[in-house]
Amino acid sequence: MDIEVDTPVSESPSQCWSPDSWRKFEARQQPSYQSPEQVAEITKELSGYPPLVFAAEARELRRQLAQVAEGKAFLLQGGDCAESFSDFNANRIRDTFKVLLQMAVVLTFAGNMPVIKVARMAGQYAKPRSSDMETVDGVELPSYRGDIINDIAFTADARVPDPRRMLTAYNQSAATLNLLRAFAQGGLADLHQVHGWNLSYLENNPQRARYAQLAERLQEALEFMAVCGVTSENTPAIRETVLYTSHEALLLDYEQALTRTDSLTGKWYDCSAHMLWIGERTRQLDGAHVEFLSGVWNPIGVKVGPGMDGDELLRLIDKLNPNNEAGRLTLITRMGAETLGEKLPALVRAVQREGRSVVWSTDPMHGNTVKASSGYKTRDFEKILREIRDFFAVHRAEGTHPGGIHLEMTGQHVTECTGGAWKISEADLASCYRTQCDPRLNADQVLELAFNVAEWLRDGRNT
Ligand code: PEP
Ligand code: CO
Repeated sequence: MDIEVDTPVSESPSQCWSPDSWRKFEARQQPSYQSPEQVAEITKELSGYPPLVFAAEARELRRQLAQVAEGKAFLLQGGDCAESFSDFNANRIRDTFKVLLQMAVVLTFAGNMPVIKVARMAGQYAKPRSSDMETVDGVELPSYRGDIINDIAFTADARVPDPRRMLTAYNQSAATLNLLRAFAQGGLADLHQVHGWNLSYLENNPQRARYAQLAERLQEALEFMAVCGVTSENTPAIRETVLYTSHEALLLDYEQALTRTDSLTGKWYDCSAHMLWIGERTRQLDGAHVEFLSGVWNPIGVKVGPGMDGDELLRLIDKLNPNNEAGRLTLITRMGAETLGEKLPALVRAVQREGRSVVWSTDPMHGNTVKASSGYKTRDFEKILREIRDFFAVHRAEGTHPGGIHLEMTGQHVTECTGGAWKISEADLASCYRTQCDPRLNADQVLELAFNVAEWLRDGRNT
């Protein structure tokens, strides 16, 4: 891995692309730092730090996502809406890791296809906001933009963007990634163990009868494999796993500083994560975020909201994946349960008509956010499930592959989204509402969701 950032490379998708070419375009949602000199100093320091991921890993993820694009695998992407500096600890990382694995086992078994696991972790620190300012009790202050930019406390000092936070975000991402790699390789990911966690989850679940059959069949499959001599001791595929990382590539100063040429291929990679995505608020065709991600070779995603039409989507695809390579681009639709059934078919048809290879994934969170009467932002489990169900139905009807889900979730027992088997009510939200930003599904809700999605994956397999 080459750590120089200024090496010219002739093979970039666009002749005039460079890691800083985004500066010639309008960059929305960027902080107004007080000292450009300090930003320059810090990004220079960052650009000398080791990359967080290795380009070959990003290439391998791209290869696996090509399998998703071809209907042969499923993408599970999830994690916090926003990671935080203060709530940074091993248990939180472990719990999200565990629940992602639990979901993946259920989905792999029912869907009978590999599940590619991509965490919204180890770098998900920058948040787009619908308003630059926030008003509380008549006091107006700049909005919180994620811990990589400013502090969530509602004081004037806390809300000043501080570029030194980029260094903390880098260090925290490195420590998170280190632990995730240790968990994935060091024994915590053993299939028998993961299945055991699922069985204890089901034991206490009010709806366990509905899921018992799937769990029993999985148990039998594991026992059969053991009888045949396929065990954790002799089979790394049972003992270990791979978990990739991802975040929204929002803060472009930071992303640029982590962008390096890969010494094996000479191509540019944003080495802050394996996969990066462009948010709904920064996906303008002539905007800086689209320019920046068009030139790196990582697998990338783009959020697709209800306002997108077929022509605009095709132009965006042209810009982000001009060579029409499978696995390069994931479209993450986030329409809302009421809207998806009406809007998605036209987009799917436009992409099909033009023969574009994409991964279709659904984010059922961001189109279903409401404010409870108590003032908490929340999302209803039934609506989240409905958006995913309709996503599957549209793709089945159009003959395309419902390739993945993208969730805001945590392995902790928070009360941020209403509904689910434990029937969290609006009145319950206050008891454990911890999110820095948007409401997340908790460990129980997200597993319940996985059992439902597993049924839809299996239904598709049988038709
Ligand atoms: C997010 O994923 O946290 C987010 C802000 O999503 P969107 O860009 O779709 O609103
Ligand atoms: Co969010």
